[in-house]
Amino acid sequence: MTEGKRVVLGITGGIAAYKAAELTRALVKKGVSVKVIMTGHAQEFITPLTLQVLSGSPVFSDMFSQEYYDMNHISLAEYGDVLVVAPATANVIGKMAAGIADDLLSTVIMATKAPIIVCPAMNDNMYNHPVVQDNMAKLKKHGVLFVTPGYGELACKTEGVGRLADIAAIVEAIESAWTDKDLCGERILITAGPTREPFDPVRFITNYSSGKMGYALATMAVRRGAEVILVSGPSLLPVPAGITFLSVASALEMRDAVMNNLAGTTAIIKAAAVADYRPAVLSDAKIKKKKGPLTIKLERNHDIIAEIGTKKENRVLVGFAMESEDLVANARSKLLGKNMDLIVANDLHQSGAGFQCDTNIIKILDPQGGVEEVPLMDKMDIANRILDRVKILTNAKRC
Ligand code: CTP
Repeated sequence: MTEGKRVVLGITGGIAAYKAAELTRALVKKGVSVKVIMTGHAQEFITPLTLQVLSGSPVFSDMFSQEYYDMNHISLAEYGDVLVVAPATANVIGKMAAGIADDLLSTVIMATKAPIIVCPAMNDNMYNHPVVQDNMAKLKKHGVLFVTPGYGELACKTEGVGRLADIAAIVEAIESAWTDKDLCGERILITAGPTREPFDPVRFITNYSSGKMGYALATMAVRRGAEVILVSGPSLLPVPAGITFLSVASALEMRDAVMNNLAGTTAIIKAAAVADYRPAVLSDAKIKKKKGPLTIKLERNHDIIAEIGTKKENRVLVGFAMESEDLVANARSKLLGKNMDLIVANDLHQSGAGFQCDTNIIKILDPQGGVEEVPLMDKMDIANRILDRVKILTNAKRC
């Protein structure tokens, strides 16, 4: 997805310039080629050598350099799949809004046809200044993308909005900018993570699901232009940007959140590991230990996907099955029994598949008897393969 991609990174003169080194490193680690342009003021905060070492490429700043005559403002403008300005000062935002091109970076910005992402970082009074806000609004109208700065303590010792956004958020904006929006018009509800079934105020029954597969699906679906609702059980993962996030704990809460948000969805993907049973009694007080064993009676939870299967209408319904034996036969019986359009099956015992890990190995089964074998790959790539199948089905349902 990122391998072979190219980014031009413009660094301007703010204290957050040092974070551009971290951004460069994160991009290079993903296989992205980065060419850095620094303004003169940026070089007051961080040396070009740092960026040169991290990007593995000369750093550009001089408009009329004879040394790098082959990398002029036109070839740099044409080089990137995306141009990112991070950190972006009020000054460079003002220049962009006014159409001023008086140094290498502002000239490249003016000359590029690549998507431009601006990551402001400045004092909160500057950020909230009506002129800066007007400039940003004007640039947004012209299609410039912004990664909103964070709130917190600023270098000037005040607190407010103006900290450079997290590197992960900037990387996500970059990856989103070069992703084809082929799921535009889809409204996809995804469930993820485990559920917790409490039996007293301090204890619950749960499972090992980390939420990684569901969060990967949400991340890729929103990148591809879908409107995404993520209903998640407890997970330590960061919430993907640009989605509607509904946090739940128990299967009952998950069921309500899903059912209340079915309207208007074109696809439902149930990646959550929902507990089939919950304790029949929830004690108000902590259960004290006594001599002998403790028996906890369990009762059945709703089967959420089966319930959706009975009122599927025109939606595409995708379920998951993690099995420890008879993978295909068990998955097929769930697929047919719960009226799904696809089921994603994986084998609990296969190394590189299942809960907690970043990779998966899956088989995608359809009701016609088809089995697509997807070999070991990153969960982000697996998510794309599943979404490719969802897209074919939603398109077919529209015809
Ligand atoms: N599922 C659900 N509600 C439940 C249990 C499961 O919506 N109460 C969904 C899961 O999100 C998954 C699919 O059903 O998409 C299959 O879940 P799984 O636990 O593998 O299957 P079960 O039908 O519960 O069968 P078993 O646990 O006996 O294997």
